[in-house]
Amino acid sequence: MNDRRNEAPQAYGSGFGNSFAFEAVAGALPVGRNSPQKTPFGLYAEQLSGSAFTAPRHENKRSWLYRLRPTASHSPYKPYDGGKLLRSGPFDEVPPSPNRMRWDPLEMPTEPTDFVDGLVSYGGNGDVATGQGIGIHLYAANRSMRDRVFSNADGELLIVPQQGVLLLATELGRLSVAPGEIAVVPRGLRFRVELNDAEARGYVCENYGAPFRLPELGPIGSNGLANSRDFLTPSAWFEDVDAPCEVVQKFQGGLWVTTLDHSPLDVVAWHGNLAPYKYDLSLFNTIGTVSYDHPDPSIFTVLTSPSEIAGTANCDFVIFPPRWMVAEDTFRPPWFHRNVMSEFMGLIHGAYDAKAGGFAPGGASLHNCMSGHGPDRESWEKATVAELRPHKIENTMAFMFESRWVIRPTRFAMETPLMQLDYDDCWNGFTKGKPGV
Ligand SMILES: [Fe+2]
Repeated sequence: MNDRRNEAPQAYGSGFGNSFAFEAVAGALPVGRNSPQKTPFGLYAEQLSGSAFTAPRHENKRSWLYRLRPTASHSPYKPYDGGKLLRSGPFDEVPPSPNRMRWDPLEMPTEPTDFVDGLVSYGGNGDVATGQGIGIHLYAANRSMRDRVFSNADGELLIVPQQGVLLLATELGRLSVAPGEIAVVPRGLRFRVELNDAEARGYVCENYGAPFRLPELGPIGSNGLANSRDFLTPSAWFEDVDAPCEVVQKFQGGLWVTTLDHSPLDVVAWHGNLAPYKYDLSLFNTIGTVSYDHPDPSIFTVLTSPSEIAGTANCDFVIFPPRWMVAEDTFRPPWFHRNVMSEFMGLIHGAYDAKAGGFAPGGASLHNCMSGHGPDRESWEKATVAELRPHKIENTMAFMFESRWVIRPTRFAMETPLMQLDYDDCWNGFTKGKPGV
C-alpha cells in the first residue's frame, strides 16, 4: 500500500460524486442560498453545469463558484497557434484499418513543451458535435504551463500519468497526481498543469459522452472494484494574481485563446457535485476467479461512461493491476478473442501478462472491433506448461480505454516511426492443433 495520498500539499474531500462545500477563506460561502443579493466579500456567484439543468437528479451535476471576477468578463477568443498534433472526432484523417497496432513509447520533447502543446492524438471515435465518443491522446512535456490555463468544452479529461508527478491547479482546488494515480477534470473547468519533475508523460482519454461514473456492481454486492471513498476532490484554493494569463480553450475540435489581465484560478469558495477528482489505482479492490477460467476483463472496470445502449459503454476505463492468479486447470493469461468493442491499451509500469515483450511502459496498442488478438506465442507457450501454483502478478499496471465504437487512428499514429510494423509477428509460429491425436 503506498501512502502518496498523505503527501499531497492540500486537503481533499472523499467520496465519488459527493456534494462538497469548501471555502478557502472563512465566511466566503453563502449560507442557505446560492445567489444572494450581496455575496460575502463581494465575490461573484457563478454556476458551472456539467449536465442539462433538467437531467435526472442522480445524473445532475453542477457546482456554484464564488470568485474574484466573473468568467464572463473576457475579450474574444482567437485561434490558437499550438497543439499541432491534437485531433478531435470525427477522426477522418486516414481510413480506419482492421490491423492490430502497437507503438513504442512517445518520445520526450526536445523543445520547451508544456502539457497543452505536448498533447498528441493517437485516435478516437464519435464526434464532438454530437457528444458521443472519445479522443485518445498521449502527452509528453518538459515544462509547466506558465501564465496560462486550459479548459476543454468538448469533454471531460481522464488523465493517466505514466512518468512524472503532475500538479493540477484548477478553479476548484489543486490535485497532486502521480504515476499510478488518475485524475478526471470536468468539461469546461479551467486548470494549469505544473510539472513536479523535469519531464512528464502519460495518457489522456477525452470523453465527449456521458461523464465517467462508477460501474454497477451487480452480484459483487455493495463493495468492491474502485470504492467510492477512495476518490478525492480538492478543497477550495485560489490565487489572487493581477498579471496577464492566457486561457486556451478547446471548442469543437479547435483550440482558441484569449488573454485575461488576471488569473482565473480565483474561486475562493464553492459547493456542488461537479468537481475534479483523483484516484489511486493501487487501492482498486481487484476481483478474480478462485476456481477456474480467466473472467472477462470488465471485472477490472474502474470507471465507465455509458452510452444509450445498456451495458455497452461509450468508454470503459479498465486496469490490469497486481493480483493473485490461483485458477485451476486454466490458461491463466488473457485468452485469444475477438471483441465487438474496440480496445486501446497503455502501460504505466511493469509488464503486461499477455505479452512477453514489445509492450513498453509509455507505449500503446490498439485492437479494434473484431480484430483477433490475445497472448503472443511466447506467453501462450509458457502459460500452457506452467505449474498452476498460486502466483502473484506484481509490479505492473496496464490499462485499457474500451469503446463501443471503432477507434480510428490519426495520421500521426499511422505514420509515426514509433509504430511497430512487425507487431503481427508476435502471433506467428503457432503449431497446428491435432484433433484425434
Ligand atoms: Fe482484448
